[in-house]
Amino acid sequence: MSLIKNIIRPEILAQSSYHVPDAANMVKLDAMENPYGLPDAIKAKLGAHLSEVALNRYPIPSYRVLKQKICQQFGVPTGFDVILGNGSDELISMLSVACAKPGAKVLAPVPTFVMYAISAQLAGVEFVGVPLQADLTLDLPAMLVAIKQHRPALLYLANPNNPTGTWFDDAQIIQIIHAMAEIGLVVVDEAYQPFAPGSMMSRLPEFENLIVMRTVSKLGLAGLRLGYMSAAPALLAEIEKVRPPYNVNVLTVAALEFLLDHMSLFNEQAEQICKQRSVLISTLQKLHQIHVFPSQANFVLIRVSNSEQIFNKLLEHKILVKNVGKMHQLLVDCLRVTVSTPAENQLFMDALIATLK
Ligand SMILES: Cc1ncc(COP(=O)(O)O)c(C=O)c1O
Repeated sequence: MSLIKNIIRPEILAQSSYHVPDAANMVKLDAMENPYGLPDAIKAKLGAHLSEVALNRYPIPSYRVLKQKICQQFGVPTGFDVILGNGSDELISMLSVACAKPGAKVLAPVPTFVMYAISAQLAGVEFVGVPLQADLTLDLPAMLVAIKQHRPALLYLANPNNPTGTWFDDAQIIQIIHAMAEIGLVVVDEAYQPFAPGSMMSRLPEFENLIVMRTVSKLGLAGLRLGYMSAAPALLAEIEKVRPPYNVNVLTVAALEFLLDHMSLFNEQAEQICKQRSVLISTLQKLHQIHVFPSQANFVLIRVSNSEQIFNKLLEHKILVKNVGKMHQLLVDCLRVTVSTPAENQLFMDALIATLK
């Protein structure tokens, strides 16, 4: 035991491992997954396609064909390439490793996606959180002061932000990118882009210090584990050195090469989820006991009278949401709920109304 304590870094000993609750037999509204599966005809074709994959071979580490398809389908600017990760989680850890010089810092508005801080700590880098305003919008003046004070190597902006659903507008982001020029890299994490009103992807050529990161997870393919990020070629080439050569497996590559030819399916599903988001928000707004925050993502953040109590009561109704009430002071008594199918949203609403009685 003392050997373990001597060998493992203290910041790792101090951490607890990432907890994922058991969701068996639950209406699963805790992880922003797309509730719609694939149509049977596509499943059958995909199955046939995957059966031809040579499982005895390593992946081709350039991932050339998949990258080309990603660039075409997701509007990566001409002359720009992508780096692939085993989920954007892996891209985040690559960035931490690439920038982990002694004294380097990572900065983000908080509350935000927890992996930015976890990954920085794992790489031995200090994480600085700049609180959002009470209405969960960006505190731009505080961000600009913190940039000057901490001179972070990396600054993350999840847009829309998780777990708040907040949308940061282009003008705010561009001010931050300018403030970070000569200081560090700005990573705009567009994990929820399929449900959002805009993107910085087309603006990549304007900024040397901008990285745009995305994932196919929220689009409907969370199980495949594929994230991608783009940036100026010279910057991308350096980060690419950190990537494990075979980090994306052959089944994921083959599945995506096939599925990216069926993007209209995922785009329609995203459209449906956006419609359901409006329905869910307006239904929730009718309940006077709760506050609903605006969302441009595929989830909605609500504040209730007692998040722990309501979370547990929802569990009794077999509804699993995420209790983020203890994550940050700004989120006291907040629950995050994935937008799902009309039927599952209704089950959630019925259970919520029952728990509020
Ligand atoms: C903002 C943000 N970025 C990245 C991720 C992780 O995505 P992936 O499934 O590609 O690892 C999440 C997951 O919830 C997220 O909320």
